[in-house]
Amino acid sequence: MSKKLFVETLGCAMNSRDSEHMIAELREKENYEVIDDFTEADLILINTCSVRERPVHKLFSELGGFNKKKKPGAKIGVCGCTASHLGEEILKRAPYVSFVLGARNVSKITEVLHKDKAVEIDINYDESEFAFKDFRSSPFKGFINISIGCDKACTFCIVPKTRGDEVSIPDSLIIREAKRLVDSGAKEIFLLGQNVNNYGRRFSGEHEKVNFTELLRRLSKIEKLQRIRFTSPHPFHMDDEFIQEFSTNPKICKSMHMPLQSGSNKVLKDMKRGYTKEWFINRVQMLKSMCPEATISTDIIVGFPGESDEDFQDSIDVMRQVEFDQIFSFKYSPRPETEAEHFTNVVDEEVASQRLNELQKLNNEIIDKKHSGLIGTTYEVYFETLNRDNFVAGRSNNNRVIRVDGSEELLGQFRNVKIIDIGRTILTGEIVA
Ligand code: SAH
Ligand code: F3S
Repeated sequence: MSKKLFVETLGCAMNSRDSEHMIAELREKENYEVIDDFTEADLILINTCSVRERPVHKLFSELGGFNKKKKPGAKIGVCGCTASHLGEEILKRAPYVSFVLGARNVSKITEVLHKDKAVEIDINYDESEFAFKDFRSSPFKGFINISIGCDKACTFCIVPKTRGDEVSIPDSLIIREAKRLVDSGAKEIFLLGQNVNNYGRRFSGEHEKVNFTELLRRLSKIEKLQRIRFTSPHPFHMDDEFIQEFSTNPKICKSMHMPLQSGSNKVLKDMKRGYTKEWFINRVQMLKSMCPEATISTDIIVGFPGESDEDFQDSIDVMRQVEFDQIFSFKYSPRPETEAEHFTNVVDEEVASQRLNELQKLNNEIIDKKHSGLIGTTYEVYFETLNRDNFVAGRSNNNRVIRVDGSEELLGQFRNVKIIDIGRTILTGEIVA
């Protein structure tokens, strides 16, 4: 009889893919099947995020809850970035945890499972050529890691300390994986890395130096593949060639994530982002002129140490100029082992909250204005999810989430949809063809 596995995944898309990897290994080698109710599970995995402080705090209360209600004898494993960063400390604070497995070590899942109190958190461990067995949470699209780790040193960010140096995965492995996905029915692939357009700088062995733009060209030759998405590119590496390929290659979906972080040149410098407000705007202008249908999303941090009102207004100014289609906005959260942790010119909590509110209010105004113009327009939608209330939802090529009345026959299908109602995060439409 199969054993039962419960997995909770927090954080980014890379964590989602790491969870898929671990599930694949556990299914293949240990005969586990995934279930939704942790109280029935023989193994509970929590795949953690440590980018901000709050989820780290929540981890221990959540672990306590798992421990109280889990099946007698069930194991609990803590994986991901908080595992990398806290290591042994997790076992000290939650002694009932069976193992701790870092974000750079997920290939060792079946190994740590059989060791008591194992802690595997080596951030130099090379998983770039590890051949995972297949597990996909969606049959319609597949995530593919193209690089692991991050070579940047943004002063606010803990990721380089939890995922290690950046290593690219050979393009032959990526293309093989993409073909395998397409052959099994997926029409869309989603390329993942902390810094995708820095792809190809370093491989773990001898490999042909292929850059990200060339990788996109090669992938788009896969005949049955229809859509290519990726996250996240870095504004610093958005050269002309990359923007041209993005704009003109019909298989590349027309939505670009451009993590701004701040609109102030002073703050950008203190964050060590490597670009200026002017460069960012220039890249957006090139993108908009070459590809007017593209949507642009971003990440913005408010309350970074030393951010004055004037600096914050620079972020607002970029928002007004670009009119982003989606914004992920965060209050700065000091993280251990980062440079900014030691910055003393801290922004008052209340001021940071006010700035976050102002930014989100402006964002809502921009979104409402943009979306109101979408009524009556038609998009080609690739349907991926069936909601309980008889809606089927999918995404337009430029990443708008659109739902229609419908049933599961629509899943995995492309349809033209006319927008009849708008919300801030989801649009409602009807099929026209
Ligand atoms: N390169 C990755 C970044 C991962 S972190 C990517 O582009 O996906 C995701 C986002 O979290 C960052 O872009 C940043 O906006 C935010 N973030 C990272 N560290 C943070 C911190 N210390 N405080 C607040 N937000 C942070
Ligand atoms: Fe973090 Fe900057 Fe890398 S935000 S993940 S250090 S590009």
